[in-house]
Amino acid sequence: MAWTKERLEAIAGTRLGSAKLIVVSNREPYIHRNLPGGEVECIRPAGGLTTALDPVMRACGGVWVAHGSGNADRRTADSRGHIGVPPGDPSYLLRRVWLTPEDEAGYYYGFSNGSLWPLCHQVYCRPSFSPDHWEAYKRVNEQFAAAVLQEAGKGPAVVFVQDYHFALLPKLLKAARPDLVVAHFWHIPWPNPETFRVCPWASEILQGMLGNDLLSFHTQYHCNNFLETVDRTLECRLDREHFGVTSGGRHCRVRPFPISVDPELAETYLGDDWEQRAAGLRQRHGLGDLPVLVGVDRVDYTKGIPERLAAVNRLLVRHPEWKGRFHFLQAGAPSRTDLPEYRDLNIRVAELTETINREHGTPDWKPVVFLNEHFGLEDITLLYRMAAGCVVSCLHDGMNLVAKEFVTSRPDEGGALVLSRFTGAASELTDAVLVNPFDVDELADALLTALTMSPDEQRRRMRRMRKQVADHNIYRWAGMLLSEAAKLVDEPLDELEPEISPEPDIKTESEIEEIDSQEVNGMIASATALSLIHLMGAS
Ligand code: G6P
Repeated sequence: MAWTKERLEAIAGTRLGSAKLIVVSNREPYIHRNLPGGEVECIRPAGGLTTALDPVMRACGGVWVAHGSGNADRRTADSRGHIGVPPGDPSYLLRRVWLTPEDEAGYYYGFSNGSLWPLCHQVYCRPSFSPDHWEAYKRVNEQFAAAVLQEAGKGPAVVFVQDYHFALLPKLLKAARPDLVVAHFWHIPWPNPETFRVCPWASEILQGMLGNDLLSFHTQYHCNNFLETVDRTLECRLDREHFGVTSGGRHCRVRPFPISVDPELAETYLGDDWEQRAAGLRQRHGLGDLPVLVGVDRVDYTKGIPERLAAVNRLLVRHPEWKGRFHFLQAGAPSRTDLPEYRDLNIRVAELTETINREHGTPDWKPVVFLNEHFGLEDITLLYRMAAGCVVSCLHDGMNLVAKEFVTSRPDEGGALVLSRFTGAASELTDAVLVNPFDVDELADALLTALTMSPDEQRRRMRRMRKQVADHNIYRWAGMLLSEAAKLVDEPLDELEPEISPEPDIKTESEIEEIDSQEVNGMIASATALSLIHLMGAS
């Protein structure tokens, strides 16, 4: 039986009973930003996590707790940081958590993205470890624990924690409310024990994560790495046969669940006028009617963007007959630009683009077009649909949803996918042209293969990849994961769902200040409760 939104809705209804579903992530699915003139715009952030989970929350309902990062977020949320989303047709509640600039710097830029991100990806970017960042990370995990406990109220709840920003949250939640079911999905790779052991707070991180009832990664390999790391670091009982860890009288199951996308969304984003929009885009960027290979990424050093540009250069050096016959278009959303590695990478990609264009281009033809800006889902889907091929050359990636989104955007069964072997997606999309992105010759050959692949061959490969993603879609991922978590829910109690209002109520500055002082008082009360739990030794 196929996994659909309706089937997930039914599963959530029966398996979760009246337990509330609370999703927690750092990034929020809808960001409100001020426009000049007092208007407010709502954007969807770049990055696979929120795109993948939004359809799940639309199907299941519940509350999504996340950092309120937009400069108009406070104006659009109510006094508790609540706003019904998606805007205009709300089906779940977003609870925004407000962070101070210092905490955001230490927790998000510092420990999450300066320590854990490079530590887990291992792409030769050295992680940095600062005690101040670690303190901020602990503080923010406590702040999120307080927000989740507030949302859970007194009733039963399944808390579904996302990613490396919240390694400590599961243990904090369990200490305060042992009856909560806590599941955690780690969206990025887990390294081997030799790599992880350099983290000065390795034990605290692992203990935090073992607070989960269910901890999951994309692949069995990452589960195994995690279990090995626990085995080498902590005193606990490992169940290698059933993949679990018992520590402090609690059991944490460790399971792989490869994430995916909603295969039907692409067509709704494309709309009927996509050909017209594609013609406009081609004209704006001087693409003529040549075949276009596309890359769609956040500008992140794990994505292998300089490597793919080096491969474009290599292709033109080795096959000059291809000059003037195709374009490579990189859509690169700036990301985490407060960190020097990320800022520098935007500059480096722009410089490489210029060098290649100077070297090989002509007044009428630029081989590389680099669009260093944020794109909405409609435009990204348009790029996928009009492309001759999509290039995903990550140096390491837990899954990579660009590859899956590309496949779902091709109901015509056209286009070739060039995909790094070092992504989780490579083990599912075996009909892609698989490459080692560190090997410039192999990547250049793969680009050529994509440009010259016959329509029949494209169709044959694309049909199989589309079937794989259709069968293993996001509803299956969520349905299986939540069913596993729901097995652990105790007798459900009845609780009222918060009311969701259809339109945001945009507030003035003074109203926001008033709310701020209430919020600070509420947080102090919750933080005090958490500190008491610490003092009592429960954590
Ligand atoms: C990766 C991470 C997500 C993150 C996304 C975008 O996919 O696993 O947790 O949300 O990148 O990055 P950002 O830092 O902008 O949220």
